[in-house]
Amino acid sequence: MTRQSRSELHVVVLAAGKGTRMRSSRPKVLHEIGGRSMLAHCLDTAEALDPASIRVVIGHQGEAVRSAEADRPIHWVWQHEQNGTGHAVWLGIEGLDAAEDDRVLVLYGDVPLLGEGLLRELAVDTAPVSLLTVHMDNPTGYGRILRDDTESVVRIVEEKDATEGERRVQEVNTGILMARFGDLVRWLSRLESGNAQGELYLTDIVEMASGEGKPVHAVMADDVWSVTGVNDRLALSQLERVYQQRQAEALAYAGTTVADTGRLDVRGTLSCGLDVAIDVGCVFEGDVRLGDNVRIGPHCVLRDCEVGPGTVVEAFTHIDGAVLAGDNRVGPYARLRPGSGLDSRARIGNFVEIKASRIGEGSKVNHLSYVGDSTVGDDCNLGAGTITCNYDGANKHHTRLGDRVFVGSATQLVAPVSVGSDATIGAGSTITRDVGDGALAIARVRQKEIAGWERPRKKTDLDT
Ligand code: UD1
Ligand code: CA
Repeated sequence: MTRQSRSELHVVVLAAGKGTRMRSSRPKVLHEIGGRSMLAHCLDTAEALDPASIRVVIGHQGEAVRSAEADRPIHWVWQHEQNGTGHAVWLGIEGLDAAEDDRVLVLYGDVPLLGEGLLRELAVDTAPVSLLTVHMDNPTGYGRILRDDTESVVRIVEEKDATEGERRVQEVNTGILMARFGDLVRWLSRLESGNAQGELYLTDIVEMASGEGKPVHAVMADDVWSVTGVNDRLALSQLERVYQQRQAEALAYAGTTVADTGRLDVRGTLSCGLDVAIDVGCVFEGDVRLGDNVRIGPHCVLRDCEVGPGTVVEAFTHIDGAVLAGDNRVGPYARLRPGSGLDSRARIGNFVEIKASRIGEGSKVNHLSYVGDSTVGDDCNLGAGTITCNYDGANKHHTRLGDRVFVGSATQLVAPVSVGSDATIGAGSTITRDVGDGALAIARVRQKEIAGWERPRKKTDLDT
């Protein structure tokens, strides 16, 4: 194998820990931030660095972790007993085909907001070890960075091993570090577990480096959230808010009107055209695309959908797996389910559910209707309470309406059935047979009238 003269980067992600404090049946690193697992965030960041290899150390519920990210080109390493971060990295680089001068970057699978930027700062450094540190007002629980008189980092001491004086240090170890492969192998092989936790501490390599007179470089992160690890669900929720705030701000910077950056949730990707406005309390999931001049009213949920230009989505509308061509008006309180497509100018009103149906150009379904498995032509009007009866208890059937069909209110269209163009359906009809072009179909009991009708009276004691 030929190797480039430039040293290569290898990433080791630690993800073997149990995550007891999450109190969950799910592995910690599979808990989600912004609709994606913490591990997925971490791996995306790693991949962005274009490393020669990525190795993930798994242990607790490792099978679930591995299958969640099975599609990525990752080398999975088992750590059956969690004997410390040093042990985990040791296993992580075992058998790694690397040159002495290659770099190994250690990431934590439970630190989801770490941006690529900070890592690039670490990566430019040529010191044998570079650490990512951060200042914390309350450093409890973290390893402290100890520096000598010349401000050089000489050691990291874990909270449980620290003296009272050392515990006052507020610069802490984020756990993320980069080391030269050749040195790392040598140091790791010398780790010992004579410490408060009886573990092999990765952090001990810092003292070994400084003991060898090798410079230890420290990059201090200016934002605590980027390097915060999740240990419990409070931290998970806090990081979720930070993540969402960042996304909302990015959207606003990019030209979207966001009514309140603190009340927007994007769990996936949201792309917005020019002059899009999003009101408060909206949730976007999966892949959502909004065209130019789209307006989304308050408290809407949009998942995996495309909303064409000029469309207005009114409050409390739910759109899932639908494509809206443009200039549509939807809601308030509308529900578009997967497989629905609105041609341009189609209008879906309140309490209307559309499923796996195409609604033609300029057609209107304005009130209290269910349209499922249907094809509706252009310029149709479906009156209030129109129901397609698409399900016979075993199979789904199709309803087909031509263009300019007028369906009177409270009509049931019992599928399979088709209605020709320009046909009219009288209100209250139950349509079970096909209707021809231009015809009027009425299928309801004819009204009868009984003059002078005497209403029934309540029985009284006198009657018995
Ligand atoms: C570690 C650091 C500490 C740092 C802190 C930042 C050491 C000795 N200490 O402490 O200096 O301030 O992180 O959060 O490195 N893991 C494994 N296998 C193991 C042990 C851990 O995969 O055997 C993984 C965990 O799943 C976790 C990460 O490594 O993702 C850190 O482990 P954790 O036990 O949280 O380390 P701390 O003791 O908090
Ligand atoms: Ca931790």
